[in-house]
Amino acid sequence: MARSALLNVMVQAALKAGKSLSRDFGEVQNLQVSVKGPSDFVSQADLKAEKIVHDELMKARPTYGFLGEEGGEEKGTDGSHRWIVDPLDGTTNFLHGIPQFAVSIALERNGEIVAGVIFNPATDELFTAEKGGGAFLNDRRLRVAARRVLSDCVIGCGAPHLGRGNHGKFLVELRHVMGEVAGVRRFGAAALDLAYVAAGRIDGFWETDLSAWDMAAGLILIREAGGFASDMKGSNDIFDHGSVVAGNELIHKQLLEVINRPIPTA
Ligand code: IPD
Ligand code: CA
Ligand code: CA
Repeated sequence: MARSALLNVMVQAALKAGKSLSRDFGEVQNLQVSVKGPSDFVSQADLKAEKIVHDELMKARPTYGFLGEEGGEEKGTDGSHRWIVDPLDGTTNFLHGIPQFAVSIALERNGEIVAGVIFNPATDELFTAEKGGGAFLNDRRLRVAARRVLSDCVIGCGAPHLGRGNHGKFLVELRHVMGEVAGVRRFGAAALDLAYVAAGRIDGFWETDLSAWDMAAGLILIREAGGFASDMKGSNDIFDHGSVVAGNELIHKQLLEVINRPIPTA
């Protein structure tokens, strides 16, 4: 499968950062038994991964802007291009030795995401997509699942937790979704959740309170795999509203209706 020079730059950066995370992930599993736990160690792993990605991308395209979760925004002299990077998505999983985490890199051109790479070094799964070039897992072409009704579907979500999100609102959404689907899953890494929609592993996904770096690469994967994505109200203001609903066209529409149902009176 021929990748563009730009996508190759993104892949090399993700693989290099993934190698660093793999080494640290092995150490984290040893640190689980330490009283202090591996929190500080994981923060260092996160920062190290972002520096690797930053340095690789900026070496290749020094004029582009850079938005990283850990380091924030760096304006580039080329105002039309910006990298959007989450060097370690699924931090809590990583901290607990759960092999569901990824490096996520997206390229934004004139406000549109045109390429994305999501790499899970623990499973050696490299998800890539480029506008008009399709979506791939390693070298296999991806299509979203073809299920047509929610009752056949497994739907991913992002459950809030201590100190994060609107618990009451999520519980209402979850109550509605549970009653309509074959299964609900909460994997703990939003970038990979979106990649799983693109790969047809889950039929749909919804989550609120996300940032651009959580979603950018996954969105182009889904669209290049024939899927649909919007914010919680069905608009394209996904980054502004920090929410996403995704699936094939039919499931996206049905899921959007279900999660927006009012609080049951019964
Ligand atoms: C988090 C993960 C998680 C999602 C959180 C994100 P992080 O990213 O994507 O699945 O529910 O909202 O913040 O913090 O591990 O990079
Ligand atoms: Ca994240
Ligand atoms: Ca992160």
